Amino acid sequence: MVNIILEKVNKIFSPDVHVLKDIDLEIQDKEFLVLVGPSGCGKSTCLNIIAGLEYVTDGRILFNNIDVSYLPPKERKVAMVFQSYALYPHMNVRDNMSFSLKLSKTDKRIIDKRVKVAAEILGISELLDRKPKELSGGQRQRVALGRCMVRNPTAFLFDEPLSNLDAKLRTQMRGEIIKLQKRLGITLVYVTHDQVEAMSMADRIAILFDGRIQQLGTPSEVYNCPTNLFVAGFIGSPTMNFIDTKFDQKNRNMLIFGEQKYPLPEDIANKLVKASFENLILGIRPEHIKVTTQTHQDSYEVEITVIEYLGAETIITFEFPDKISAMAVTPGFYPGRMGDIAYISFSPDQIHVFDSETEMNLIHFPS
Ligand SMILES: Nc1ncnc2c1ncn2[C@@H]1O[C@H](COP(=O)(O)OP(=O)(O)O)[C@@H](O)[C@H]1O
Ligand SMILES: [Mg+2]
Repeated sequence: MVNIILEKVNKIFSPDVHVLKDIDLEIQDKEFLVLVGPSGCGKSTCLNIIAGLEYVTDGRILFNNIDVSYLPPKERKVAMVFQSYALYPHMNVRDNMSFSLKLSKTDKRIIDKRVKVAAEILGISELLDRKPKELSGGQRQRVALGRCMVRNPTAFLFDEPLSNLDAKLRTQMRGEIIKLQKRLGITLVYVTHDQVEAMSMADRIAILFDGRIQQLGTPSEVYNCPTNLFVAGFIGSPTMNFIDTKFDQKNRNMLIFGEQKYPLPEDIANKLVKASFENLILGIRPEHIKVTTQTHQDSYEVEITVIEYLGAETIITFEFPDKISAMAVTPGFYPGRMGDIAYISFSPDQIHVFDSETEMNLIHFPS
C-alpha cells in the first residue's frame, strides 16, 4: 500500500519542451486518481516518472515519504498497464500471467495460487490455456490486468488502457476496473484524454494542461466549480457555452451580452463588483439551459438553427436575435424543428463568469 507524492516535479526534454512545470500532487493510499488532459500535455511522461521509466529533471517523487526519484522501476514495484496490452503472443494466458514471477524465481506453488486467484477475480479462469490471438480485446485487457495483479504491486499505473476497445466494451471495462480497484484496495493512477472516463472512474481528477495541474478535485468539484476557462471547457459534453459579456454595475447589476441583459442576484453581483471586472465570459452548460416551445418566466426568444435527436436527449443549437449562438441539451424528444422559435432560460445558480484576461472563474470556486 502506498501514498505517492510528486513534489515540484519538472520535466524538460529540451529547452523548448518543458513538459511538466512544478507539479505538486499527492495521491492517497487506495485512491483512484485520474490524470486527464489533451493529447501531448504530458500525462504519459508524468506516469512514467512515477514508474521510474523516466527521471525528473527537477523535483522529487516520494513513496510513503521515501524519496524514490532515482530508483529504477523494479525497485518501486509498481505495475503498468498500457493501451497496447503487450502480451507475449506465443505464450498462453497462464504463462503470460506468471512470466514476471517466474523471472523473479517465485515458488511455483505461490505462482499457481496467485494466477488462480487473479483469474477468478477477473473471470478468465476458463481461458488460461488459450493464446492471446484466441482472445477478444476485452479478454486480452483482462489478462493484462491479471499479469499486474499477480505481482502484488504497490500501485497500479494505467496509461489509456481502454483506448483500443470499442465503445460498448470500454464502458463495461470501466466498471470492471473500478470494482477491481476497490476490491483490491490498491492505489491506482489512471491516465486518459477522455473526460467521460475521468468523470466516471475517478475518486479525484487531476486536469493537466500547459505543463501544470489546472485543477485537482472530485468529479463533482471539477464539474460544478471549474477553476478556470480551460477546465470548464474540458469537462462536460457538449462543451460549456462561452459568451463574451460585460458587467453593468450602474444599471442594476446586469450582465450584458449582445442585445441581451441578464439580471444577477445580489450575491453574484457582489462578487463581480468587488473584483470590478470589465471584460467577462459567461459560461453556461448546455444541460443547464431550459428550452420550451412557449414563452416562460425570464425566457429569451431564440431561433433553433440545428436540432439533433439522440434518443435519451435532444441537442439544440440556437441563436439569439443578434446572432449570438449557443447550445442546449434537453431530456427526451424536443418537439421542434430547425428554424422554429423557442424560448430559453438559465438559472443564475448554474452560470459561471470568467475574467477574460486571467480566465479564472469569478463566482464558483472550490471550497
Ligand atoms: N522522450 C522524449 N523526448 C522528447 N520529447 C518527448 C519525449 N517524450 C515525450 N515528449 C514530448 O513531451 C510532450 C508530452 O508527451 P506525453 O507525455 O507523451 O503526452 P500525453 O501522454 O499527454 O499525450 C509531447 O510534446 C511529446 O512530444
Ligand atoms: Mg500518452
